Amino acid sequence: MSTRQIQLDSGGQLHHFISIEGLSREILTDILDTAENFATVGTRQVKKVPLLRGKTIVNLFFEPSTRTRTTFELAAKRLSADVLNLNISTSATSKGESLLDMLHNLEAMHCDMFVVRHNQSGAAHFIAEHVAPHISVINAGDGSHAHPTQAMLDMFTIRRHKPDFTSLRVAIIGDIKHSRVARSQIHALNILGVPEVRVIGPQTLIPPEASHLGVHIYHSLEAGLQDVDVVLTLRLQRERMEGALLPSEAEFFARFGLTEAKLKLAKPDAIVMHPGPINRGVEIDSAVADGPQSVILEQVTNGIAVRMAVMSMVLGRPPQSGEESR
Ligand code: CP
Repeated sequence: MSTRQIQLDSGGQLHHFISIEGLSREILTDILDTAENFATVGTRQVKKVPLLRGKTIVNLFFEPSTRTRTTFELAAKRLSADVLNLNISTSATSKGESLLDMLHNLEAMHCDMFVVRHNQSGAAHFIAEHVAPHISVINAGDGSHAHPTQAMLDMFTIRRHKPDFTSLRVAIIGDIKHSRVARSQIHALNILGVPEVRVIGPQTLIPPEASHLGVHIYHSLEAGLQDVDVVLTLRLQRERMEGALLPSEAEFFARFGLTEAKLKLAKPDAIVMHPGPINRGVEIDSAVADGPQSVILEQVTNGIAVRMAVMSMVLGRPPQSGEESR
């Protein structure tokens, strides 16, 4: 079954959230609008709404994570769900239990949602195909394939600063080849109507299929940054690189590192983003990461509201009018 087929129910509503690709502009806009409703929950004295009370959500992270795991946990708790964080290194999979046997045991505990990060592309899709029909699966990053909630929190952050997607020029810089974030960002930007998406990087880090994704390819940072509204920087995914794709990190920084001087080529009000973790002095200079145009920490904050939106939507409980403010 295709990912599009698997993630929508018979009424066209999200049941799983595996990939941005194939979703409609209406669904993406619905996620952004729903997240907007949740954005103030974290600033209240009581940071909770009762929407997912009685639901049980399991975080299954087979790869390291700081931002994604903790913001999924906070989002679930702010929706009043019960959260289990499975420690994969001490779970029975380390004793040879198969992934599917582990999932069926969690199903037997009447869990309602699995949030999955895995180093294999396609892992979240595979799990969604094999779980009981009442369980929703959210992809928290699978190999170099997709990281849909990261892309949606990026779109949310962009929209807060630049409300009209249809007038934007957006540049994504660095290791596009290994980046699940870049793939999901490109799909989201295209679906939301951004007319010009640029990818900038050395030839070895731009995948051949990029030209089919409707992006403009640049191998010069100076040329690619001209007059852009949004600059999306990426980490070099060393753990996914096979062979020598780069001479050295120092050379990468010299050619593709975002410095204050290079940022001046973008529009004066351009915003700078990064999904984290940041490697300072490799893809971005500290003066830019901590500078006035950086919205990197806003992205982290916005991740909670966006994940609340996605979790409430896949479990069929988006807030009704006024409900999020209770
Ligand atoms: N952006 C992101 O996925 O960060 P983590 O690896 O810390 O979750």
